[in-house]
Amino acid sequence: MTPAPSPTATTEDPKRLAEFEARIARGETIEPKDWMPEKYRRQLVRMMSQHAHSELVGMLPEANWITRAPSLRRKMSLMAKVQDEAGHGLYIYCGTETLGVDRHDLTNQLLAGTAKYSSIFNYPTLTWADIGAVGWLVDGAAIVNQTMLAKASYGPYARAMVRICKEENFHKRQGFEIMSILSAGTPEQHAMAQDALDRWWWPSLMMFGPHDKDSPNSDELLRWGIKKKSNDELRQRFVNLTVGQAKAINLTIPDPGMKFNEATKNWEFSDINWDDFWRVVKGDGPCNRERLAARRSAHANGEWVRAAAEAHAQKHARKESAA
Ligand code: 3HC
Repeated sequence: MTPAPSPTATTEDPKRLAEFEARIARGETIEPKDWMPEKYRRQLVRMMSQHAHSELVGMLPEANWITRAPSLRRKMSLMAKVQDEAGHGLYIYCGTETLGVDRHDLTNQLLAGTAKYSSIFNYPTLTWADIGAVGWLVDGAAIVNQTMLAKASYGPYARAMVRICKEENFHKRQGFEIMSILSAGTPEQHAMAQDALDRWWWPSLMMFGPHDKDSPNSDELLRWGIKKKSNDELRQRFVNLTVGQAKAINLTIPDPGMKFNEATKNWEFSDINWDDFWRVVKGDGPCNRERLAARRSAHANGEWVRAAAEAHAQKHARKESAA
């Protein structure tokens, strides 16, 4: 069971807290066996569990197209990507275990519908172009975020991001290739790519979280070096990277108010519909119920595998102790 937070969690030993803050200020990496404030631990568990849940739920929209991929090459590439996401989830769940969390607790929270995961995965993948848009935009946004997290102050999380970002780059490239081929195809194919960009653009910007002024966690995460950049900084970096890519494949960003600021060199974009964002985060998105049902069904159908693995482990342990 995940240990309950220490009773003095809110009032840390001032001397130890000062030493910890000094370590962060020196850019040191915090390892699992190091002393850390309970709030630092809890923030990491919150972020990392949501990240791991996002990886697992994120498999669902894409898995929807594995049997429908237009060629064997596309099917293989998509299967590899979906398998990667499962591995990312397992990797990050392992990271939460270095913080004393029992991953079964996290799984139960997800299945109970009480755990957050990235709202982007509550949208449907309606056409094959969506698979391109997800790889290009969703994994592209994830790379911007995770490249920053690869410098996080908590060692196991940062190291996990280094490995995951390498695979995300393949995910983004295969998605962008799908979009560029469709966009250069027949008028119907171009229209399909543009439709996917229209539907996935704004939810991708929401992946970076609310504006900094509305982000209750960012100050602490930035102070403790878990985040190195704010939500708005990362969002702006993603927009600046992506506008040129859309133009390069003759697609239009669905934001008529977008304009380039010569002074800041930023692409300024229109307001995000935060009511939409919170509606989906709170469970009322197009696919929230479907995603949870799929996770619950996969978990139930996997019971026999867990039982077999447990029986094997116990048999192996008995052999070991008898030896
Ligand atoms: N979807 C759902 N909830 C979100 C959200 C989103 N896109 N953005 C923010 N929220 C939630 C936060 O979890 C927080 O709620 P909580 O306090 O109950 O946890 C609340 O909204 C306020 O947001 P904050 O800005 O205060 O939260 P953070 O400081 O944690 O910033 C974050 C949000 C940028 C998502 C940050 O948590 C983060 O970087 N997490 C790690 C990376 C991650 O989880 N990415 C998700 C996508 S994974 C992915 O894309 C897989 C790839 O392979 C495709």
